[in-house]
Amino acid sequence: MIIQPRTRGFICLTAHPEGTAKNVQDQIDYVKSKGKIANGPKKVLVIGASTGFGLSSRIATAFGSDAATVGVFFEKPAAEGKTGTAGWYNTAAFEAAAKDAGLYAASINGDAFSDEIKKQTIDLIKKDLGQVDLVVYSLASPRRTHPKTGVAYSSVLKPIGQPFTDKTVDFHTGVVSDISIAPVENEEDIANTIAVMGGEDWKFWLEDLKAAGVLAEGVKTVAYSYIGPELTYPIYHNGTIGRAKEDLQNTVPVLDDLLKDLHGKAYVSVNKALVTQSSSAIPVVPLYISLLYKVMKEKGIHEGTIEQMQRLFTDRLYTEGEVQLDSEGRIRVDDWEMRADVQEEVSKLWAQATTENLEEISDIKGYRDEFFHLFGFNFNGIDYNADTNELVGVPSIG
Ligand code: NAI
Ligand code: NA
Repeated sequence: MIIQPRTRGFICLTAHPEGTAKNVQDQIDYVKSKGKIANGPKKVLVIGASTGFGLSSRIATAFGSDAATVGVFFEKPAAEGKTGTAGWYNTAAFEAAAKDAGLYAASINGDAFSDEIKKQTIDLIKKDLGQVDLVVYSLASPRRTHPKTGVAYSSVLKPIGQPFTDKTVDFHTGVVSDISIAPVENEEDIANTIAVMGGEDWKFWLEDLKAAGVLAEGVKTVAYSYIGPELTYPIYHNGTIGRAKEDLQNTVPVLDDLLKDLHGKAYVSVNKALVTQSSSAIPVVPLYISLLYKVMKEKGIHEGTIEQMQRLFTDRLYTEGEVQLDSEGRIRVDDWEMRADVQEEVSKLWAQATTENLEEISDIKGYRDEFFHLFGFNFNGIDYNADTNELVGVPSIG
């Protein structure tokens, strides 16, 4: 079928198999250009492996460390008149490239929050790998059904305490406007968001993996977090999602305890703000990212998810000696984003930003391009008017 982008709000409803394959191949090429991760992981489970940071983690460990990877995600293949999701095509492209390189890769498609998918994943690890030495936890979801109680939780992106009014941008049109977001009305909104994006499911995964004996001696596990500048504190760091991230951080000592007898270790890595399917849904953040990209590109320190993950594994998680942590025990690969000179310039631009000057003072074009790249669109060298085969499958799922 002929596949063109079709958007609704911040969502793109279509994805292009060849374009997403190019996105994956570009990431593979980047990792290969950086050479091998010394003493890197060899058997890796990535939970949330099909897009964003999780996909890049899978690519960085496979092609940077010759790791066998098991990827868990929730994606859809093509169906009558509908394309598959970007993460489905990403995975098909990844698995094909991994196979060509002689690397083991297998995937599980389903609800990672469920006991059933955890069990399927464990059975697969037992059968094919025996154990894993790295577990990457990179889920981003608006909903979670609790596996023990059946309660369905929905997360909210709201400030806590007072309403938050600031600028935001519709990145499709470039229109900058004021947005006011009402604070949570009750503690339940906070608790629900923690239930979805906090650390409980990460803990459930590690508990089940350990009980099944599929964690290797010295296993590491890492989950991803974000802090960002004061500018976005009301909606992010001090908002409902920030509470969930705090809960994730509080899970680290619990997991350290669980993994103690294996000499294992849990980490939270604070990553840079980047265009992903999840971050485009957060108000205010796309405007911040488009200004941040402008400043970081000008300074030559811009990174995408693959550069971030390559640096995480090479310079943080698998370095000689101790893993470098901040005063609160977190890995920081948002260090360049948070540099004082970067943040000062972003703040200045933030104050100036209007619909009229946005193209000039921000990298809104780069934002838009990257958003469409997530779905395989806006790539040079791909003919989006040509017929393409949408029925691409993930070989290990069948
Ligand atoms: P993403 O939306 O690109 O990836 C989410 C992944 O989770 C996908 O593989 C998806 O299939 C999977 N997933 C979602 N629900 C699932 C379910 N029920 N069962 C199985 N798989 C499911 O998101 P992104 O941005 O890569 O986020 C990953 C983590 O990184 C999140 O914890 C996020 O908060 C964090 N992060 C994101 C930043 C950003 O700017 N995008 C910055 C710093 C951290
Ligand atoms: Na991810």
